[in-house]
Amino acid sequence: MDAPTKTAAACLPSNSKTAPPSTLVIFGAGGDLTKRLLIPAIYNLVNDQALDDKFQIIGVDLVPNDDQGFRNHLTENMRALIASGRGEFASAELDDQAWNWLISRTFYVSGDFGNIETFTKLKALLDQREQASGCGNAVFYLAVAPRFFGPVVEQLGRANLLDESGAHFRRVVVEKPFGTDLQSAKALNKQILKVADERQVFRIDHFLGKETVQNIMVLRFANGLFEPIWNRDHIDHVQITAAETVGVEDRGRFYDATGALRDMVPNHMFQLLSMIAMEPPNSFDADAIRSEKAKAVEAIRNLTPEEAVRNAVRGQYRAGKVLGKPVNNYRDEPNVSPTSMTETYVAMKFMIDNWRWSGVPFYVRTGKSLCTRRTEIGIQFKQAPHVLFRNLNVGEIQPNMMVFRIQPNEGVSLRFAAKRPGREVEIEDVRMDFRYSDYFKAEPSTGYETLIYDCLTGDATLFQRADNIEAGWAEVQPLLDGWAANDAPLEFYEAGTAGPAAADALLARDGFKWLPLT
Ligand code: BG6
Repeated sequence: MDAPTKTAAACLPSNSKTAPPSTLVIFGAGGDLTKRLLIPAIYNLVNDQALDDKFQIIGVDLVPNDDQGFRNHLTENMRALIASGRGEFASAELDDQAWNWLISRTFYVSGDFGNIETFTKLKALLDQREQASGCGNAVFYLAVAPRFFGPVVEQLGRANLLDESGAHFRRVVVEKPFGTDLQSAKALNKQILKVADERQVFRIDHFLGKETVQNIMVLRFANGLFEPIWNRDHIDHVQITAAETVGVEDRGRFYDATGALRDMVPNHMFQLLSMIAMEPPNSFDADAIRSEKAKAVEAIRNLTPEEAVRNAVRGQYRAGKVLGKPVNNYRDEPNVSPTSMTETYVAMKFMIDNWRWSGVPFYVRTGKSLCTRRTEIGIQFKQAPHVLFRNLNVGEIQPNMMVFRIQPNEGVSLRFAAKRPGREVEIEDVRMDFRYSDYFKAEPSTGYETLIYDCLTGDATLFQRADNIEAGWAEVQPLLDGWAANDAPLEFYEAGTAGPAAADALLARDGFKWLPLT
């Protein structure tokens, strides 16, 4: 019995802030996600002293390379990223001490993801580490093209790399997109869960790494003020926006086969929707929270494909100017079909059929090449009865609107009516505004720091369970089917505008208006 106890002790973090010692194995080590987000996030974690002295990285990719070559490649890339000013870092120069600490713990295995030999080599390296340090914890991060998700996990299983019978943990992080529809998501879950236990699987949705998204739960459940009015008696409708100024950039091949609906709605938009709509969980435990979120999404009303099409708008951008810069027609973007029917914009209406939300519409919209970059959630409360001011000429009183600004200008605001100073009773809308930056100094963050740290510590709260993923796909499947039948109009909008007019009409039908984007 002695040996495992010793091993377990060696696997504990060196202090309460550091994650347990572990090896982060990155599949797709030469790819874009690794260089743009993962390595910068890990570097920020090093600066934050959140990693254990026994932490190490093993990069795996097809390109032949060795440890030193891989280290040089990462160093060049980090220097370029920091110099470009595009990254999220504490200082304008690479901190040599932190970087050297990290790079000296970085190794490389070259090999094909489909070939068992790659995994045998990897196993030998991990076993060697377990012998040397007494700790064999490992997290396998799949920063690879989605077609490799299933096969890589299968090979990990075949090579016995997911076996936790020693005193160590083995976890798998799966990136988005998780499937392309309900059927493929179910098949992928099945394939993964054949070799891994659900508690070993960490399905990423990077929106959950955003502080402001996590704050929705705190605002709702740590304050006595909001929850009593958070229901159909007081809320008129909810609107969720993720507007982007970027177009498809160099992702034409992926995007044209994907579109805005698959890319954003069952994942990111439903994360926001479920945070707003979920019931209070019994505890802050990962499963309690994820169960409530899944229930909220599952309560979305099932529609036929025809109904789903009637409650949605699909748009595609045409040439225009975004923030002063000319933008091509979507159909002229590289690797996009000149007759593409892919939507770069989607707006949808959902009804949630449960006790709390019956009769309250939830609208979501997301699109590319719009006039502004803004992710926000508007909660419109019911109009005051108005009786008191009926005989006064006070103009139209707007209903109260609470807005969660997810990004940028992170914060929360509340619109309400106030009396304009003067002898006459005149009413005007004013805003109470909380801005994160007025109260807190945020650490530089790519958004992946929290997610990587949580995965190393085994906290799955911010990751999607199989049922969360499937619930999301199940709710958008009727629209995917309806659009596939191809009788829904494609609304064109000029790049740099707020999107197609049909999206305004979707809300106007119910007597509502989107929050302005400009
Ligand atoms: C990604 C989508 O998941 O999220 C992109 O694939 C989108 O198309 C991005 O641009 C938006 O994330 P963020 O954090 O920039 O709002």
